[in-house]
Amino acid sequence: MSHNTVAINQAQQPLDHLDSVWLFGYGSLIYKADFSYLQRRPARIHGWQRRFWQGSHDHRGTPTAPGRVATLIQADNAHCSGMAYQVTPAVFEHLDHREKNGYLRFFTEFEWLDGSGTVNGLVYVAGPDNDAYLGPASEQEIARHIAQSAGPSGPNDEYLLLLAQALRDLDDHDPHVFAIERELLALRQRHFT
Ligand code: SIN
Repeated sequence: MSHNTVAINQAQQPLDHLDSVWLFGYGSLIYKADFSYLQRRPARIHGWQRRFWQGSHDHRGTPTAPGRVATLIQADNAHCSGMAYQVTPAVFEHLDHREKNGYLRFFTEFEWLDGSGTVNGLVYVAGPDNDAYLGPASEQEIARHIAQSAGPSGPNDEYLLLLAQALRDLDDHDPHVFAIERELLALRQRHFT
């Protein structure tokens, strides 16, 4: 599958008939809301876990030296916390472009973190069949990869550190993200001492 998913998302899932749509963000969409939204609320989705297994050609890396960013992997009994935004359908023109490097959007159920119920909304997932997918590696290797990558949106380590901080702010303990953060900080320590 081509890694530019804009046309696929727009053809598979027109949204113009809706007044508003909820979107669940679990990566940079948690900490970088560069779009207008009606409201936002912490939420989680079940059956998925966050993994730094997606290559980034357009934000935190380049086509010849991709960075590593988050996607979701299906896993029984797992859950993933993040931030949900209620947006108008027009906002997806921007979002589809921002998430174009392999991410397909689909509807799923989110649960509000405050326990007040659930809602159906969209989430962007970059699956193993997209051209930019990198797949599993040890958390140490992922940290090394992130430490040496950068792209038009900035250094790859900024993505990781902002995400880790955003998860702390949500009171979420994500062992994968925090292990990569620890490895990255240890690498920096070795580099500067
Ligand atoms: C997301 O944040 O929900 C998708 C992945 C990303 O843009 O980092």
